[in-house]
Amino acid sequence: MDTVIEKTDRAHPDDMIIKKAGEYIKEGGLVAFPTETVYGLGGDALNPLSSRRIYEAKGRPSDNPLIVHIADIKDLETIAYLDESYTIHDLKDKVMELSDRFWPGPLTVILKKKDIVPYETTGGLDTVAIRMPSDPIALAFIKASGGFIAAPSANLSGRPSPTRIDHVIEDMNGRIDMILDGGDVDIGVESTIVDLTDDIPTILRPGAITADDLRSVFTEVRIDPGLAPDSDKAPKAPGMKYRHYAPKGDLTIVKGPSDKVIAYINEHAAADKSDLLNTGAICVDEHILDYRATLVKCVGRSDDRKLTAHRLYAILRDFDDEGIDVIYSESFDGEGISTAVMNRLTKAAGHKIIELH
Ligand code: TXA
Ligand code: MG
Repeated sequence: MDTVIEKTDRAHPDDMIIKKAGEYIKEGGLVAFPTETVYGLGGDALNPLSSRRIYEAKGRPSDNPLIVHIADIKDLETIAYLDESYTIHDLKDKVMELSDRFWPGPLTVILKKKDIVPYETTGGLDTVAIRMPSDPIALAFIKASGGFIAAPSANLSGRPSPTRIDHVIEDMNGRIDMILDGGDVDIGVESTIVDLTDDIPTILRPGAITADDLRSVFTEVRIDPGLAPDSDKAPKAPGMKYRHYAPKGDLTIVKGPSDKVIAYINEHAAADKSDLLNTGAICVDEHILDYRATLVKCVGRSDDRKLTAHRLYAILRDFDDEGIDVIYSESFDGEGISTAVMNRLTKAAGHKIIELH
């Protein structure tokens, strides 16, 4: 299949290009588009055949549900119930408050689905994930497509989510109808997912909007216990159980005092090198000169976790491109978006963490 690639300006999305993208969707086709979090692979959320095609293009298991992207809050009740059937008190008011505060933006809510949403889109679940992205290209594209775009991240299954146009082209060129090129995304990790169908609002995937942010709307917010690395419970979001975001190289996170972490990584990288392996290190800018791995990648200064989120997936892809066999990463704990960064990094490492004291 030939994939049409069109570049358009985020500040002024080109009407003709957006219209063409909308037409592909209405015909059951697939279009990759930028959002503020990561690039999405869009299809008509209300067309079961489109959702099937999304799974096919990504090579993704079809029990992993898709997020439905909307561009207008009025469209929410077309696809989800906001009635009295929820355990959470005043659910409708709470959702409107969330929407006022965080939409358009990197927040996905899980609600009870209406019949109009096919099970192909929700992976067989009676609930539906919904978000309103803030990227102007995304909003214009959703409107031009009829209002409901099902979109997972636009990577091949098992690869890091795409944050740059070259990632999208690498993974999707020849597999879909069109790619909307809006340049680099802003945030770099996927949206926060909060499940509102349980008794307590529960974060199923951490993102740029934190538990504390959500506590401005709900008195109590819980993090899915299945997300903890040592949990014996499966995560509630089907997608979180897969070993996503996995680089081809073997990744280990090394935690502890900086001097010990640097010594540990250098010692192990030296041993790997003598085994003729290509080694990589991921570190904060302050430590760039301290590592002696084949490829050293920096995630920004230690006080800039937003930049770490922004760079993380591109760095993991760089290690793949350079054929790195063994990767060691510093740990990037901290406030705000750090929880999302460490969640993705830990998954990419298959939970391999060395703790030094
Ligand atoms: O930032 C984002 O959310 C990006 C952009 C493109 O919007 N999208 C994204 O989609 O990350 P995807 O498909 O890569 O991840 C969706 C996650 C999966 O972990 C999936 O299991 C979960 O959302 N999910 C979707 N619907 C769900 C539902 N009804 N119940 C529980 N989890 C759900
Ligand atoms: Mg994904």
